[in-house]
Amino acid sequence: MEIIYNLPDFREFRSLLDSQSKSIGFVPTMGALHNGHLSLIQKAMESCEIVIVSIFVNPTQFNDPNDLKNYPREIEKDIKKLSPLNPNVIFIPGVEDIYPKPDTRIFDFGNLDKVMEGATRPGHFNGVAQVVSRLFDIVRPHKAFFGQKDFQQLAIIKAMVLQLDYKIEIVSCPIIREENGLAMSSRNSLLTEAERKNASFIYKILKEAKASYPALTIEEISNTAVKKFENQPGINLIYFEIVDSKSLAPVKTPDNSSEIVACVAVKINAVRLIDNLIFD
Ligand code: PAF
Repeated sequence: MEIIYNLPDFREFRSLLDSQSKSIGFVPTMGALHNGHLSLIQKAMESCEIVIVSIFVNPTQFNDPNDLKNYPREIEKDIKKLSPLNPNVIFIPGVEDIYPKPDTRIFDFGNLDKVMEGATRPGHFNGVAQVVSRLFDIVRPHKAFFGQKDFQQLAIIKAMVLQLDYKIEIVSCPIIREENGLAMSSRNSLLTEAERKNASFIYKILKEAKASYPALTIEEISNTAVKKFENQPGINLIYFEIVDSKSLAPVKTPDNSSEIVACVAVKINAVRLIDNLIFD
């Protein structure tokens, strides 16, 4: 496992791979690694000969400077967590490597980045697209692995790959949950023990919503879920939406061909958490 801290060294490593016809898997992360990330890396290692993990807290995807400041940074711990998996390279670039000059690109994702996270975090997905495309240009992988917890991010990255014509397979990996059902997230480390316990309420409500489909209408399911969140102390609901899994447009009366997914964002004190569950 090699650790590379800057772009010139990474480029040297990457150019050595050009003469070898090996499959390259890439797992981009912002660090503060948990079992969800490790499952992505595991999956990459099962299907690719070379696996590259990046750790970079991307400033352009934070619309709230406090969120960026408080985002957990644990490089030493991350390296320790990665060593048993032994990916080929951990790439830890600096801001000057990723953005030698400000990235002024504005992406157009239509509806995909206007709803849910996009509506409440202006510019967030543009920043994600900037960093992921920059990393794709640098790493030039064959496959890239992303978690389904960030359902909207996954849809946007797939759209970006089509728009920019990358020949990269996007592999979506299932949500990994804590024992109490809370979706694993780097932000969970910012929760107190009591908050973490309370946060298990999110998955509980998602499961109840799914169980009541199709007996209840989508509107009834949404209203019930919203009420339950509103009555739960310590959790502030940002949105609960039931959307089409491809267009991310709100669904009122699903037809048989559409896959629907319930998506939720909450704040527990200052910690923003998201989760989702696909209805069969
Ligand atoms: O999902 C994340 O951790 C980030 O949004 C990503 C994809 C690494 C881009 O910074």
